[in-house]
Amino acid sequence: EWSMENFIEMEVEKIQHQVGDRKVLCALSGGVDSSVVAALIQRAIGDQLTCIFVDHGLLRKHEADSVMETFSEGFEMNVIKVDAKDRFLSKLEGVSDPEEKRKIIGNEFIYVFDDEADKLKDIDYLAQGTLYTDIIESGTETAQTIKSHHNVGGLPENMQFQLIEPLNTLFKDEVRALGTELGVPDHIVWRQPFPGPGLAIRVIGEITPEKLEIVRESDAILRDEVKKTGLDREIWQYFTVLPDFRSVGVMGDARTYDYTVGIRAVTSIDGMTSDWARIPHDVLEKISTRIVNEVEHVNRIVYDVTSKPPSTIEWE
Ligand code: XMP
Repeated sequence: EWSMENFIEMEVEKIQHQVGDRKVLCALSGGVDSSVVAALIQRAIGDQLTCIFVDHGLLRKHEADSVMETFSEGFEMNVIKVDAKDRFLSKLEGVSDPEEKRKIIGNEFIYVFDDEADKLKDIDYLAQGTLYTDIIESGTETAQTIKSHHNVGGLPENMQFQLIEPLNTLFKDEVRALGTELGVPDHIVWRQPFPGPGLAIRVIGEITPEKLEIVRESDAILRDEVKKTGLDREIWQYFTVLPDFRSVGVMGDARTYDYTVGIRAVTSIDGMTSDWARIPHDVLEKISTRIVNEVEHVNRIVYDVTSKPPSTIEWE
């Protein structure tokens, strides 16, 4: 009979049998799938697993620290954190086209990962958090054809590893249950989807450190306030975006000319279609006031009230 305990037991045996005394590498992003895969493989083979976590400088506030705290400290995993912030930012300098950004980030990720993997000796296997739905969807026409989702099946073909994909019979809800069973904390198991290119596609147009900071700080405030209301599990995704324009405002008796922050919050079943979330007005007011007061160079907040279609969830 199928149960989560049986699934873990069977997969653990299978992985042990397959891997023997060899070594496995895993690209840890801090997302649900890669986290659960890492936890499962560690359960099976312990120290024979090494994870690489690439900090591309496009993560949300405190995200990199939180990933390291959970896995390196909590799970006592071998996690190599690669600080590649400068590398990504310099590649993205002057680039404003969304697809171009995705391509650059996807490629750079592979180069960085490759460089690190090269430094490790005797790795035979690469573990990936491919889900059942990733397999079906990659064969059909999905959002991927509209925007190139680089993290689906995205590792280099010339890598000499054999793949281990222990989640490839599972749906998302089963992966969450598995994660919980393996002791992966709720803030990861129930994390909202976060795109591989990260904040790069939430700064509309050209990316600068200053703009990244605005989107990162405003996003942290939004998440903080939404979490306080307990709406975080009902809303599929909620985040801020920074459009590429400034407008006039007033502060004290001085005129300001500063950025507008957009708030995007949607309900959805699978991300393919979505509706804008009806966040109560008083909550929006609190968020708006806090962002304008706490984040420099912001003097206006707008709320996105379009569904998908005709919009998309992200603004790029
Ligand atoms: P859109 O904006 O197309 O997004 O409605 C649908 C879902 O996909 C996520 N998304 C991405 N995920 N790489 C990713 O890993 C990407 O380039 C990318 N673009 C969009 C988006 O956050 C939403 O969950």
